[in-house]
Amino acid sequence: MAISRKVREQMNNSSWIRRMFEEGIELRKIHGPGNVFDLSLGNPLLEPPAEFRAELARLAADETPGTHRYMPNGGYPEVRASVAETLAEESGLPFTGAEIMMTVGAAGAINTILRSILDVGDEVVLLAPYFAEYIFYVQHQTGVVKQARCDENWLPDLASLESAIGQRTRAVIINSPNNPTGVIYPEASIRAIGELLRRAEEKYGTEIYLISDEPYRKLIYSDAPYPFVFEHHPRAIVATSHSKDLGLAGERIGYVAVNPADPGKSVLMDALTFSLRTLGFVNAPALMQRAVAGIQRATVDIDVYRARRDLIYDTLTGIGYECVRPDGAFYVFPKSPIPDDTEFVRHLQKELVLVVPGVGFGTPGYFRASYCVDDWVIEGSIEGFRKSFEQLTS
Ligand SMILES: Cc1ncc(COP(=O)(O)O)c(C=O)c1O
Repeated sequence: MAISRKVREQMNNSSWIRRMFEEGIELRKIHGPGNVFDLSLGNPLLEPPAEFRAELARLAADETPGTHRYMPNGGYPEVRASVAETLAEESGLPFTGAEIMMTVGAAGAINTILRSILDVGDEVVLLAPYFAEYIFYVQHQTGVVKQARCDENWLPDLASLESAIGQRTRAVIINSPNNPTGVIYPEASIRAIGELLRRAEEKYGTEIYLISDEPYRKLIYSDAPYPFVFEHHPRAIVATSHSKDLGLAGERIGYVAVNPADPGKSVLMDALTFSLRTLGFVNAPALMQRAVAGIQRATVDIDVYRARRDLIYDTLTGIGYECVRPDGAFYVFPKSPIPDDTEFVRHLQKELVLVVPGVGFGTPGYFRASYCVDDWVIEGSIEGFRKSFEQLTS
């Protein structure tokens, strides 16, 4: 076989989400699409807001020469300035376009960051449960994954994080609101992580980046302000996108924001821009950069996701599932009623309900259900959740 051993192994270990997706296709063929209740995917349900379509129509009519040519690799200066202005407003920090780089989604942003900071064998710490693709991003960019865990409320376990950090640690990735738990890290957790990183930097004589992956930052269902990472660590970098908050996952548009207070920010921005170009992204899509520049304050209607969060959380906990209440994103991560989460998922599949086992997020014993689905999918899944729970716990 001509493909690399590394990629072959990665494909074998690859995503449960994908596996469930493929099994869902088979089940739909057999039972009909209306009889399969698929809660396995995080594909945003809501359409982009009206402002987005208006911007697209305006841009389509723009005949200014050069509109579709190459540009500075980090993105159009006016787009970066516009993103910076909104981020400054949200965070209270003095962002300018010089700290923003437009990227091909959050996934492109994370790969570009890792490419810029990792030498072969450098370590990146993930907090389980985590978005499983991080493992492959780190490995593709020549790094090694180390794992720490969260506590029973899905907040970072600081002792575990501290013991996962060593001489070769170059970054810690956090993700809040979190996929798969939906939990938002409070300011106190982020402050403690920042303090811990600076202690580790001093101990090892190194610099460690805190990469905050925030594609769900605007999908928040509580009133508390979002705690940004920047004030808690000088080497904080945000990776984010409009895949979820504007419903543009297929359009591949996002950005990196580096800390205005990072003394090394200009070298870092140069490295990021170089890596974006040479990873083959070259630049983020031109039309999408322009389309999102003027609608940075818009979002999809998050009340729709909030109502579904309430429906699925109340239903599952009403049946008896144990679950931390999610305040953001569009996932719940309940405890499996039996210790073997893959067996539970298979059991639920017999009821034509699809979810992803916690092992796919580095945390066996739990499962993830996405609620970015139509109401009929959640409603149709309830009986299966109830039957499986009763059969397995009686
Ligand atoms: C936690 C997390 N990070 C990154 C991504 C990738 O997002 P994007 O589509 O912006 O590349 C996803 C997508 O589901 C995600 O859940």
